[in-house]
This record gives sequence, C-alpha cells and structure tokens, in this order.
Amino acid sequence: MARSAILNVMVQAAVKAGRSLARDFGEVQNLQVSLKGPGDYVSQADKRAEDIVYAELRRARPDYSFLMEESGAIEGSDGQHRWLVDPLDGTTNFLHGIPVFGVSIALERQGQIVAGVIYNPAMDELYTAERGGGAFLNDRRLRVAARTKLSDAVIGTGVPHLGRGHHGNYLLELRNVMGETAGIRRMGAAALDLAYVAAGRLDGFWEDALHPWDIGAGILLVREAGGFLSDKNGGQDMFETKSIVAGNEAIQSALLQVLKKPV
Ligand code: IPD
Ligand code: CA
Ligand code: CA
Ligand code: CA
Repeated sequence: MARSAILNVMVQAAVKAGRSLARDFGEVQNLQVSLKGPGDYVSQADKRAEDIVYAELRRARPDYSFLMEESGAIEGSDGQHRWLVDPLDGTTNFLHGIPVFGVSIALERQGQIVAGVIYNPAMDELYTAERGGGAFLNDRRLRVAARTKLSDAVIGTGVPHLGRGHHGNYLLELRNVMGETAGIRRMGAAALDLAYVAAGRLDGFWEDALHPWDIGAGILLVREAGGFLSDKNGGQDMFETKSIVAGNEAIQSALLQVLKKPV
C-alpha cells in the first residue's frame, strides 16, 4: 500500500496526537476537565491533541483552512482545501477509562473528502483512506461486511447526549431497529463506529447530531471499503443534516427504511 505524501502528513499528525492521548489516558484523573454543555466534556487531553494536529498540518500545508472541534474554523488563503479535525473522538469514554477513542482527520478538496485518517492509540489501530485508493486498517485492505439481511446485522448507533433534545424520537427509532436486527452496539466514538463499518465489524451504523469532524474521515473509509452512506432523508447532506446512516448497499437501504418508519 503506497501512501501519498499528504496522507503521510495526516498519519504522522494523528499518531503524534494519539501518543499524547495515550500518555494523558494513563493519568486521566489528573486532567483538567470542563463542561461545554450538558453531558459534553472537554479536557486538557483534547486540547493538547488538537494543538499537535494543528501544528503538524499547518507546518506541512500553511495555506489550508481548518475546521476543528475545539478551536472552530480557521480560514487559510488557499481557498480549495480544508482539514476536518476531531482531536479526541470519544471524550466521555476517555474520561471514564474506556479505551475506545481516537483522533480523526479528514481533508476536503473543493468540498469533496479526498483523504481520511482515524487512529485509536489504545489498540494501535490506524485506519486510512484516499479517494479512489481503498481503505486500510494498518496494512490490511478493508471491505464492509457481506451480510445482507437486517435480521443478521449488528448495528452501531449513538445515544444523544443529555440536553440534546431529541431523546423521544431516538427511543422510537431504537425500538424499531432493535425489533429488526441481531444486535445494537453503542461504542461511544462516532469516528470509530464508521471505521468499524468499513472494517466489517459493524454491519451498519446510524446517528444524529454529528459534526463534520466526527464523520469526515469515516465517510471516506466506508465509501472506500465499498459501503454506502446517506443522511436520514436518503440524501448526501450528512454535514448539513448532521445525520448519517451507513452499511453495505443492502443493509444501508434496509436500515434507512426502518428509520423512516412512522415514529
Ligand atoms: C462524540 C462521540 C460520540 C457521539 C457524540 C459525539 P466527542 O464525540 O463521537 O460517539 O455520540 O455525538 O459528540 O465529543 O467525544 O468528540
Ligand atoms: Ca466533544
Ligand atoms: Ca467527536
Ligand atoms: Ca472530540
């Protein structure tokens, strides 16, 4: 697997930030933590990892724009490229000592995602994808799962945070999906959920209220692993609607139909 120069830059940034997360994970009780909103935490570890990713990417491509979870948007002069950065996806897991978290970096060119990296330092799992070049876990090429019946499928999801306001609808969706599938998983890191779909570990995934930094890299991984994605309306406006439904062709479309059931 030959990686392009830009993917190497992204890998280096993600792995360096991941090492910082791993160090902080060992001393999680000493970290400063603050609340951004109900149930929504940010720690020194998130910020340190974001500073590392920013410095690495900025050094390699000084003109590109950024959209980062903790620092927001930074406009670059190039006008064509934008980095989407989630320095620590799975902060709640991280702060509870659950080793399911990672760094997610995507690169957009003229609004299209062209490269993505997700790194889980606790498992030393590095997911990479480039548009047209396939998706990989470390050096292994990925392919979405082959199961086509929803009744055989294990589906990942995300439960809305306290205060996110749509628990009622979510419970009805969950009930409908539970009734038609072999199992549900709530892993706690949306970027990794999508990486797991790409790796064929989860047959499908859906969630609401996600941001471009949560899903940018994962979208490309799923596509490059032969999977399908849409928002909950069946369109491709995942960033605008903030909703996402993923799987192989059969599971994605069946899951979408279940989610569209009258709630
Ligand atoms: C969160 C995780 C979680 C999802 C939340 C996200 P964060 O990201 O991806 O799985 O359910 O909606 O905000 O805040 O840990 O980067
Ligand atoms: Ca967060
Ligand atoms: Ca996130
Ligand atoms: Ca985050």
